Amino acid sequence: MPVAIITGASKGLGRALAEALAARGWDLVLDARTAEVLQETAAGLQTYGTRVMAVPGDVTDAGHRSELVAAGWRLGGVDLLVSNASALGAEPLVRLDELPLQGLRRALEVNVIAALALVQEALPLLRASGAGTVITVSSDAASEAYETWGGYGASKAALDHLSAVLGAEEPGLRVWAVDPGDMATDLYAAAVPDDDDPRPAPASVVPAFLRLLDERPASGRYGAPSLLEGRR
Ligand SMILES: NC(=O)c1ccc[n+]([C@@H]2O[C@H](COP(=O)([O-])OP(=O)(O)OC[C@H]3O[C@@H](n4cnc5c(N)ncnc54)[C@H](OP(=O)(O)O)[C@@H]3O)[C@@H](O)[C@H]2O)c1
Repeated sequence: MPVAIITGASKGLGRALAEALAARGWDLVLDARTAEVLQETAAGLQTYGTRVMAVPGDVTDAGHRSELVAAGWRLGGVDLLVSNASALGAEPLVRLDELPLQGLRRALEVNVIAALALVQEALPLLRASGAGTVITVSSDAASEAYETWGGYGASKAALDHLSAVLGAEEPGLRVWAVDPGDMATDLYAAAVPDDDDPRPAPASVVPAFLRLLDERPASGRYGAPSLLEGRR
């Protein structure tokens, strides 16, 4: 069975993706900081009969990242690494003139440095996979200048660039940066608590990720809306 590590997998997009992969027979290593919620998510996936290892911790912790990759190794390797865990830098989001620099540092630490560090840790297993794949979860805030999304957007732009260069440096892997579009999740509510407009459920964008895995297009940046055309 193929093995995936998914960070930020206890809820939101990470959990929806974990469920879809478990349904397809993937063995999973799941990460999030809040152990009880992560364990509940992992328990809910038992119904699919695949092996699911819940490894609670913070992606910024080097020891925790090693545990994630070691768990993948125990399951037989790492075929897919999804860097999905994310920090906003300020909750709610604020304009750049008020953005706490500590918040920006945290967003860069979680969204960029930890993501690269986990790739570095998993690379030997990804290269050995034969179908090694890295997915980094991006945002349209990486490419559009939305007021208050500057710090988070800058971190996602940096993540996009790391992903693009990784794709060039590792021709044996697929490296996809994926913008999922807006989703109704705790992260979105924390970012913009006054925005009551309905947003799509995370599960509704999962078919975009499955399409990438099925079709294995070239490494690059992809947006969920175009991947979902004719797919829902
Ligand atoms: N929601 C949107 O509208 C939207 C739009 C564009 C892009 N995105 C991106 O989509 C991805 C998923 O976000 P979401 O909206 O699904 O968020 P979510 O529902 O709030 O889930 C975030 C997940 O990440 C975990 N997490 C957060 N910080 C972590 C850390 N430092 N270490 C380990 N786990 C951590 C959370 O659990 P704990 O808190 O327990 O750690 C949770 O499992 C993110 O990369 C986000 O930037 C979201």
